[in-house]
Amino acid sequence: MSARLKVSNMSGTSAGRFPERRLVAIYPGSFDPLTNGHLDMIARGSRLADHLIVAILRNTQKQPLFSLEERFEMIDAATSTLTNIEVDSFEGLLVEYAARKSANAILRGIRAVSDYEAELQMALLNRRMRPETETVFLMAAEEYSFISSRIIKEIVTLGGDVSQFVPASVAARLRAKFSR
Ligand SMILES: Nc1ncnc2c1ncn2[C@@H]1O[C@H](COP(=O)(O)OP(=O)(O)OP(=O)(O)O)[C@@H](O)[C@H]1O
Ligand SMILES: [Mg+2]
Repeated sequence: MSARLKVSNMSGTSAGRFPERRLVAIYPGSFDPLTNGHLDMIARGSRLADHLIVAILRNTQKQPLFSLEERFEMIDAATSTLTNIEVDSFEGLLVEYAARKSANAILRGIRAVSDYEAELQMALLNRRMRPETETVFLMAAEEYSFISSRIIKEIVTLGGDVSQFVPASVAARLRAKFSR
Protein backbone atom coordinates (compact mmCIF):
# COMPACT_ATOMS: atom_id res chain seq x y z
CA MET A 1 0.00 0.00 0.00
CA SER A 2 2.69 2.46 0.96
CA ALA A 3 4.70 1.55 -2.12
CA ARG A 4 1.67 2.26 -4.36
CA LEU A 5 1.16 5.53 -2.58
CA LYS A 6 4.77 6.44 -3.21
CA VAL A 7 4.42 5.76 -6.93
CA SER A 8 1.22 7.72 -7.28
CA ASN A 9 2.77 10.61 -5.38
CA MET A 10 5.47 10.79 -8.01
CA SER A 11 3.16 10.81 -11.02
CA GLY A 12 3.98 13.67 -13.31
CA THR A 13 7.66 13.47 -12.53
CA SER A 14 10.24 11.08 -13.95
CA ALA A 15 11.67 10.23 -10.54
CA GLY A 16 11.68 6.50 -9.84
CA ARG A 17 10.85 5.51 -13.39
CA PHE A 18 14.23 6.63 -14.71
CA PRO A 19 16.76 5.82 -12.02
CA GLU A 20 19.96 7.83 -12.04
CA ARG A 21 22.41 6.03 -14.33
CA ARG A 22 25.69 7.23 -15.71
CA LEU A 23 26.99 6.17 -19.08
CA VAL A 24 30.75 5.84 -18.93
CA ALA A 25 32.09 4.98 -22.37
CA ILE A 26 35.55 4.07 -23.61
CA TYR A 27 36.58 4.98 -27.14
CA PRO A 28 39.66 2.82 -27.77
CA GLY A 29 42.05 3.14 -30.70
CA SER A 30 45.62 3.59 -31.84
CA PHE A 31 45.10 7.22 -32.86
CA ASP A 32 48.41 7.14 -34.76
CA PRO A 33 47.59 9.92 -35.51
CA LEU A 34 44.20 11.39 -34.57
CA THR A 35 42.07 12.18 -37.65
CA ASN A 36 38.98 14.31 -38.21
CA GLY A 37 37.05 11.02 -38.34
CA HIS A 38 38.19 10.13 -34.81
CA LEU A 39 37.40 13.68 -33.70
CA ASP A 40 33.85 13.41 -35.07
CA MET A 41 33.41 10.14 -33.15
CA ILE A 42 34.70 11.79 -29.96
CA ALA A 43 32.37 14.79 -30.33
CA ARG A 44 29.34 12.58 -30.98
CA GLY A 45 30.33 10.14 -28.23
CA SER A 46 30.68 12.96 -25.75
CA ARG A 47 27.08 13.98 -26.44
CA LEU A 48 25.86 10.43 -25.77
CA ALA A 49 27.96 9.54 -22.73
CA ASP A 50 28.19 11.27 -19.39
CA HIS A 51 31.89 10.56 -19.39
CA LEU A 52 33.95 9.52 -22.42
CA ILE A 53 37.40 8.04 -22.04
CA VAL A 54 39.52 8.24 -25.18
CA ALA A 55 41.88 5.33 -24.57
CA ILE A 56 45.07 5.01 -26.58
CA LEU A 57 46.06 1.39 -27.08
CA ARG A 58 49.67 0.74 -26.15
CA ASN A 59 50.46 -2.01 -28.62
CA THR A 60 53.85 -3.47 -27.89
CA GLN A 61 53.74 -5.42 -31.15
CA LYS A 62 53.32 -2.44 -33.48
CA GLN A 63 55.85 0.36 -33.84
CA PRO A 64 53.78 3.56 -33.97
CA LEU A 65 54.76 6.67 -35.93
CA PHE A 66 53.91 8.90 -32.96
CA SER A 67 54.96 8.16 -29.39
CA LEU A 68 52.32 7.68 -26.73
CA GLU A 69 53.06 11.17 -25.39
CA GLU A 70 52.66 12.75 -28.83
CA ARG A 71 49.36 10.96 -29.44
CA PHE A 72 48.16 11.98 -26.00
CA GLU A 73 49.04 15.64 -26.64
CA MET A 74 47.33 15.69 -30.05
CA ILE A 75 44.07 14.27 -28.65
CA ASP A 76 44.22 16.50 -25.59
CA ALA A 77 44.70 19.65 -27.71
CA ALA A 78 41.95 18.78 -30.19
CA THR A 79 39.36 17.98 -27.49
CA SER A 80 40.08 20.83 -25.08
CA THR A 81 36.62 22.39 -25.55
CA LEU A 82 34.82 19.18 -24.52
CA THR A 83 34.32 18.99 -20.77
CA ASN A 84 33.39 15.32 -20.24
CA ILE A 85 36.44 13.81 -21.97
CA GLU A 86 39.34 12.01 -20.37
CA VAL A 87 42.39 10.94 -22.37
CA ASP A 88 44.11 7.81 -21.12
CA SER A 89 46.07 4.81 -22.38
CA PHE A 90 45.90 1.09 -21.77
CA GLU A 91 47.47 -2.20 -22.75
CA GLY A 92 46.15 -5.72 -22.54
CA LEU A 93 42.52 -6.71 -22.65
CA LEU A 94 40.03 -3.93 -23.30
CA VAL A 95 37.39 -5.58 -21.10
CA GLU A 96 39.78 -5.65 -18.17
CA TYR A 97 40.54 -2.00 -18.68
CA ALA A 98 36.77 -1.33 -18.91
CA ALA A 99 36.30 -3.11 -15.57
CA ARG A 100 39.05 -1.02 -13.96
CA LYS A 101 37.42 2.17 -15.24
CA SER A 102 33.87 0.98 -14.33
CA ALA A 103 32.87 1.66 -17.93
CA ASN A 104 29.53 0.34 -19.14
CA ALA A 105 30.08 1.01 -22.84
CA ILE A 106 32.71 0.71 -25.55
CA LEU A 107 32.36 3.10 -28.47
CA ARG A 108 33.41 2.02 -31.96
CA GLY A 109 32.99 3.43 -35.43
CA ILE A 110 31.85 1.70 -38.61
CA ARG A 111 33.07 3.29 -41.85
CA ALA A 112 32.22 0.59 -44.37
CA VAL A 113 31.31 -3.07 -44.60
CA SER A 114 35.03 -3.79 -44.29
CA ASP A 115 34.99 -2.54 -40.67
CA TYR A 116 31.94 -4.61 -39.81
CA GLU A 117 33.44 -8.08 -39.73
CA ALA A 118 36.34 -7.33 -37.40
CA GLU A 119 34.20 -5.09 -35.22
CA LEU A 120 31.50 -7.76 -34.89
CA GLN A 121 34.06 -10.36 -33.84
CA MET A 122 35.56 -8.04 -31.22
CA ALA A 123 32.18 -6.94 -29.91
CA LEU A 124 30.98 -10.54 -29.53
CA LEU A 125 34.20 -11.61 -27.82
CA ASN A 126 34.14 -8.63 -25.49
CA ARG A 127 30.49 -9.26 -24.65
CA ARG A 128 31.24 -12.90 -23.83
CA MET A 129 34.12 -11.89 -21.59
CA ARG A 130 32.32 -9.00 -19.92
CA PRO A 131 28.55 -8.74 -20.55
CA GLU A 132 28.29 -5.66 -18.33
CA THR A 133 30.05 -3.61 -20.99
CA GLU A 134 28.01 -3.05 -24.15
CA THR A 135 29.68 -2.13 -27.43
CA VAL A 136 27.97 0.81 -29.10
CA PHE A 137 28.56 1.59 -32.78
CA LEU A 138 28.29 4.93 -34.49
CA MET A 139 28.15 5.11 -38.26
CA ALA A 140 30.94 7.26 -39.64
CA ALA A 141 29.96 10.66 -40.97
CA GLU A 142 29.83 10.57 -44.79
CA GLU A 143 32.53 13.22 -45.07
CA TYR A 144 34.99 11.22 -42.94
CA SER A 145 34.09 7.66 -43.83
CA PHE A 146 37.13 7.20 -46.08
CA ILE A 147 39.69 8.49 -43.56
CA SER A 148 42.00 6.23 -41.58
CA SER A 149 45.28 6.88 -39.80
CA ARG A 150 46.99 4.46 -42.17
CA ILE A 151 45.85 6.29 -45.30
CA ILE A 152 46.84 9.66 -43.80
CA LYS A 153 50.38 8.39 -43.18
CA GLU A 154 50.51 6.99 -46.70
CA ILE A 155 49.50 10.32 -48.26
CA VAL A 156 52.07 12.23 -46.19
CA THR A 157 54.80 9.74 -47.09
CA LEU A 158 54.01 10.38 -50.74
CA GLY A 159 54.26 14.14 -50.23
CA GLY A 160 50.52 14.90 -50.20
CA ASP A 161 48.65 17.51 -48.16
CA VAL A 162 46.40 16.07 -45.44
CA SER A 163 45.33 19.32 -43.79
CA GLN A 164 41.66 18.77 -44.67
CA PHE A 165 41.62 15.32 -43.03
CA VAL A 166 43.27 15.94 -39.65
CA PRO A 167 43.25 18.67 -36.97
CA ALA A 168 45.73 21.52 -37.68
CA SER A 169 48.10 20.49 -34.89
CA VAL A 170 48.28 16.96 -36.29
CA ALA A 171 48.99 18.24 -39.81
CA ALA A 172 51.84 20.36 -38.43
CA ARG A 173 53.35 17.42 -36.56
CA LEU A 174 53.08 15.21 -39.63
CA ARG A 175 54.86 17.84 -41.73
CA ALA A 176 57.60 18.10 -39.11
CA LYS A 177 58.08 14.32 -39.05
CA PHE A 178 58.42 13.98 -42.79
CA SER A 179 60.35 17.17 -43.67
CA ARG A 180 64.06 16.74 -43.72
N1 LIG B 1 36.93 8.22 -40.12
C1 LIG B 1 36.35 7.52 -39.15
N2 LIG B 1 35.03 7.65 -38.91
C2 LIG B 1 34.42 6.91 -37.95
N3 LIG B 1 35.08 6.02 -37.16
C3 LIG B 1 36.38 5.87 -37.36
C4 LIG B 1 37.10 6.61 -38.35
N4 LIG B 1 38.41 6.24 -38.31
C5 LIG B 1 38.49 5.30 -37.35
N5 LIG B 1 37.30 5.07 -36.79
C6 LIG B 1 36.98 4.13 -35.72
O1 LIG B 1 37.75 4.46 -34.60
C7 LIG B 1 38.11 3.29 -33.86
C8 LIG B 1 39.60 3.27 -33.65
O2 LIG B 1 40.19 3.00 -34.89
P1 LIG B 1 41.73 2.98 -35.19
O3 LIG B 1 42.54 3.39 -34.04
O4 LIG B 1 42.04 1.65 -35.84
O5 LIG B 1 41.79 4.12 -36.32
P2 LIG B 1 42.13 3.97 -37.82
O6 LIG B 1 41.97 5.33 -38.42
O7 LIG B 1 41.35 2.84 -38.42
O8 LIG B 1 43.68 3.64 -37.77
P3 LIG B 1 44.51 2.54 -38.61
O9 LIG B 1 44.48 3.00 -40.03
O10 LIG B 1 45.86 2.60 -37.97
O11 LIG B 1 43.81 1.22 -38.38
C9 LIG B 1 37.54 2.13 -34.69
O12 LIG B 1 36.27 1.77 -34.18
C10 LIG B 1 37.39 2.71 -36.06
O13 LIG B 1 36.36 2.05 -36.80
MG1 LIG C 1 41.84 0.77 -37.82
